[in-house]
Amino acid sequence: MYTEDQVKEIMRLTGELLQPNNYSDKQSVEILCKVLRFHEYRYYVLSEPLIADIEYDTLYKKLVELESRHPNLVTPDSPTQRVGNSLNQQFETVAHLVPMLSLDNSYNGADLLDFDRKARELSGLENIKYCVEPKFDGASISLIYEKDILVRATTRGDGVAGEDVTNNIKQIRSIPLSAPFSHYGIEQIEIRGEIIMTKESFASYNTKALEAGTTVLANPRNAASGSLRMKDPKDVAARNLDGFFYHVSYYKTGDRRPETGDDPLVKHSNTLKLLWDMGFRSPEREKKVVTGIQDVIDYCLAFEAKRDELPYEIDGMVVKVDEIALQEKLGMTSHHPRWAIAFKFKARQATTTLLDVEFQVGRTGAVTPVAKLSPVYLGGVTVSSISIHNEEYIKEKDLQKGDRVLIERAGDVIPQIVRSIPEARTGNEVAIQFPSECPVCKSVLFKEEGEAVWRCINIECEAQVVERIIHFVSKDAMDIKSFGEANVRKFYELGLLSDIPSIFRLSDCRLKISELEGFGKKSIDNLFTAIEASKQQPLYRLIYGLGIRFVGETTAKTLANAVTHLLDFASKTEEELMQLEDVGTKVAKSIFGFFMNEQNIAMLKDLELLGLKLINEKKETVVGGSLTNQSFLFTGTLLQLKRSDAEAMVEEKGGIILSGVSSKLNYLVVGEDAGSKLEKAKKINTVKIITEEEFLQLIK
Ligand code: IVH
Repeated sequence: MYTEDQVKEIMRLTGELLQPNNYSDKQSVEILCKVLRFHEYRYYVLSEPLIADIEYDTLYKKLVELESRHPNLVTPDSPTQRVGNSLNQQFETVAHLVPMLSLDNSYNGADLLDFDRKARELSGLENIKYCVEPKFDGASISLIYEKDILVRATTRGDGVAGEDVTNNIKQIRSIPLSAPFSHYGIEQIEIRGEIIMTKESFASYNTKALEAGTTVLANPRNAASGSLRMKDPKDVAARNLDGFFYHVSYYKTGDRRPETGDDPLVKHSNTLKLLWDMGFRSPEREKKVVTGIQDVIDYCLAFEAKRDELPYEIDGMVVKVDEIALQEKLGMTSHHPRWAIAFKFKARQATTTLLDVEFQVGRTGAVTPVAKLSPVYLGGVTVSSISIHNEEYIKEKDLQKGDRVLIERAGDVIPQIVRSIPEARTGNEVAIQFPSECPVCKSVLFKEEGEAVWRCINIECEAQVVERIIHFVSKDAMDIKSFGEANVRKFYELGLLSDIPSIFRLSDCRLKISELEGFGKKSIDNLFTAIEASKQQPLYRLIYGLGIRFVGETTAKTLANAVTHLLDFASKTEEELMQLEDVGTKVAKSIFGFFMNEQNIAMLKDLELLGLKLINEKKETVVGGSLTNQSFLFTGTLLQLKRSDAEAMVEEKGGIILSGVSSKLNYLVVGEDAGSKLEKAKKINTVKIITEEEFLQLIK
């Protein structure tokens, strides 16, 4: 897509644009579009970014600012044009240039042999060259580019006409808003592909949805197909979708001859390469061109064996005759082409009986219903229990005890109940009753307005205490190796653990532990070494480990960078917390509540006495930086930098961030719409008031 020289040139321009430069606004807009497009491609298509997120954001904001001053300079393929602003959009029905056909299916080697035999008979050839590629499990989409610009994206619909979902598709950053088809003399082109949600995006979306008590997505496929017709493009953006493109259904060349001299679309494998070179995600790296059906079968089976390792869901492979001329010779039925066939992987759905429902209490007190199932084999594992999330989910899926249910395991995504099968009811089914008391400590459960989750709010509830300890020692938190969930539970039951600080007093119980089965000298030594080592973990891991509601790893990092000592949070107001990156009302309230609780403060002091680090080391170690002992405060909206990044820049150079204007403040950096802080600072002679630009100069 980009030659080495082009990459060098764009990186040079990137560097220039990040510094003050002499480009005119018009030139800047042009260069910014080019540079941002390149970096989007590196990030979203190749997953190999060449600049930091903050640098991308800085450049993006520059473009937004320039375009808002010069609306006449906005082009339809400017990276800013992805932003969807038409709420409640209607989806017009539009005809496809060429109907969207389906594929015939095969399920085993014999089916493929049959397909190959027919193709050879029809063509009179002895051996056929096939291109084999993954069958992406998502929602099909058709894109039209005219004069290199994406002009329309249409759903499959009835195959002849679909719905215009262009605004939503523009939210998908790996789909280019423009591509240099004119380089090949192509004026108009219709491209087919599949919109998918990666396993990672799916899992992270659902984790957030569960935390926020909003609806969880059933599986990545439904998540992708359900998103195409969403009313608000911003909701589409939130799903972090992706698209793979694998077919050119139509193209028109202009008078101008293709610059390359020959038609790149003579082979299907060339099409994949062309799309890849144009900046699309095509299965260029996953495809294989083979001669003869046996190699096709081998490749399909090999791919099936490693399907769980892929970052996205596939439900099979697609086998295509590689020569386009031969494809045309073989032709189509009214339903599917005769030159292609899907090889479907083994199903990962099964039906079973929902026997009972148990209610589990998590570390934040959320009570989660778990369906106990009659054990069933599904895609390599036996499934006997599945979380059914919350009361609303149970209603939505119409679940009752005794129901037959359809379950599905999508790749390495945890099994889900797709739906109940009410048709199979006998009348002996029993409604699922949600408890009104905590199943562990018996205190009354509460549900906050607008939330789907019932909670036990007794923070001493045993179930919560154990879950909090499990979370604290877990890999993403303090990462205390050899201290798995089972050991935590065992130690808690035996009274060796009672709360988080008790982890660091376990060495007093060495004798008792050595009497337990499976705890020889070596494993005890390992455990104690791991506990001791964890005391050196950086502050953000400790913060994350505390399990404060809504504080995930990213927020924990922001928090760790915002103070010199963890207990500084005890004197921060909700408003001050909300000044931090990504901390909204809900998160600020939760953090504030945590540090207002005396028991929590006592626990943190206890941890410090036990040798854990409550200080932000990064802040302390920067000595001799150019900003040593200089204090800063940012106010108003910064145009080029994210506030948290600007603050980190100060800290990296040894400076400190203050939370309010006082005589201790050296610099107030003012962005747009600065308010009371600026007024206050003007009254203190010693405070230097500087702009963002001046700050950038200073930091250089
Ligand atoms: S080719 C005329 N290739 O599967 C040939 N389809 O079950 C058009 N699909 O409608 C289809 N991955 O939505 C093709 N690599 C791939 C595919 C693929 C997924 C979808 C597509 C199609 C459906 C048929």
